[in-house]
Amino acid sequence: MYQNCRNCNADLIEVVDFGKMPISNAFISQNQFSDEYFYNMTAMVCQKCYLFQLLEQPNPNILFHDNYAFFAGSSNSMQKHFDELSDELIDKFELKKNDLVVEIGCNDGGVINYLKKKNHSAHLGVDPSKNVYEKSKEKGINMMNKFFNIKTSNEIVKEKSKAKIFISLNTLAHIANINSVFEGIESLLNEDGIFISEDPYLFDVLEKVSYDQIYDEHVFVFSVTSMNNLCNKHGLNLYDLKYLDTHGGSMRYYVSKNKNLPKTNNFNYFFNKEKNIHSNGMEVYKNFNSNCIKSKTNLINFLNEQSDKKIIASYGATSKSTTIFNYCNINTNQIKYITDTTSTKINKFSPGTHIPIYDYDYFTNNKPDICFLGAWNHSKEIFKKEKNNFSLNGKWITHTPEAMFINDF
Ligand code: TYD
Repeated sequence: MYQNCRNCNADLIEVVDFGKMPISNAFISQNQFSDEYFYNMTAMVCQKCYLFQLLEQPNPNILFHDNYAFFAGSSNSMQKHFDELSDELIDKFELKKNDLVVEIGCNDGGVINYLKKKNHSAHLGVDPSKNVYEKSKEKGINMMNKFFNIKTSNEIVKEKSKAKIFISLNTLAHIANINSVFEGIESLLNEDGIFISEDPYLFDVLEKVSYDQIYDEHVFVFSVTSMNNLCNKHGLNLYDLKYLDTHGGSMRYYVSKNKNLPKTNNFNYFFNKEKNIHSNGMEVYKNFNSNCIKSKTNLINFLNEQSDKKIIASYGATSKSTTIFNYCNINTNQIKYITDTTSTKINKFSPGTHIPIYDYDYFTNNKPDICFLGAWNHSKEIFKKEKNNFSLNGKWITHTPEAMFINDF
């Protein structure tokens, strides 16, 4: 268990104690209920570098393994997002034929799948989960089945070359050994190399009380301040930012190896905004603690009241909903079933509170009265899909920023 900051070793301050949690993505069968793994999930913040992190993270081998349940390919909006970023890489960074692009956590394709489709053969994906690695290989993507760190970085330089672009979409936050990752990025990049990371944005989590972004895989939730501190420490230059609405509010960080690239207005805007917030010390984190407690009471009361009269199902068996259901102790008393399109989750049970997961056919044949948006980050896509076969009006519940019915986005 980490007692000090994983980046700078300074003391950590407790933000929220979520109590006992199961593995967020470990959708299980009934015969596994009795050996389910639990750990204590406590969110902390470093009082020196402001890196927001979990006190304890289960062993990464329990989280990222041969049967990793997440396939990025299941979301159309994320696929569009990857495609657009691949265009940006080609145009904005004037990608040449031999410029190596490395993507970590590329899952079943990621951005490099689109680069490959656009005939950019100098690409490499690095993913530690065997099943998603195999999926990418089947698509003809060049892959390495490894955790990324300084050792893997050295191997890539030796076997291939230095990289022009290093991409990490929703992956960096998963790796506890963050200093080894940054060391690896710095040594892998060319002198004019660029590192792009996208991660859920801490100040969105704090403002929206979307505490469900906090789960075992997200050992960190980054802010501009903490990302900038990490980059400075490793001789990298965080020079630009792009705010994104993916995953309920994310930040794209543009980092150069060239320390002389000037900071953009966008960078200055967010950096100064956070500096102002931190000028009140730890107040923002204390408020988050009380907002989480309020949100929990509010959601459980809301669902108890509705489930007295109505059948509620949850849409999307997400890691996020594992945090919500376990923190708020929501089980089949409130939510009768969860629907999801991912084959590895169907006919299993949600971690911890054991709500059954059924496929989309079951959902269409057993329409609930109300749907809880477990995959609220995909609500636009879900609403578009369900518009014609499930009247939206008054039937959808979200928990953020507070438990309520929601009819449009
Ligand atoms: P994801 O966005 O990865 O959330 P988390 O990181 O918290 O696990 O998961 C979205 C889940 O929702 C995934 O299991 C697929 C499912 N899903 C559907 O079942 N139907 C849909 O239309 C969409 C968009 C997602």
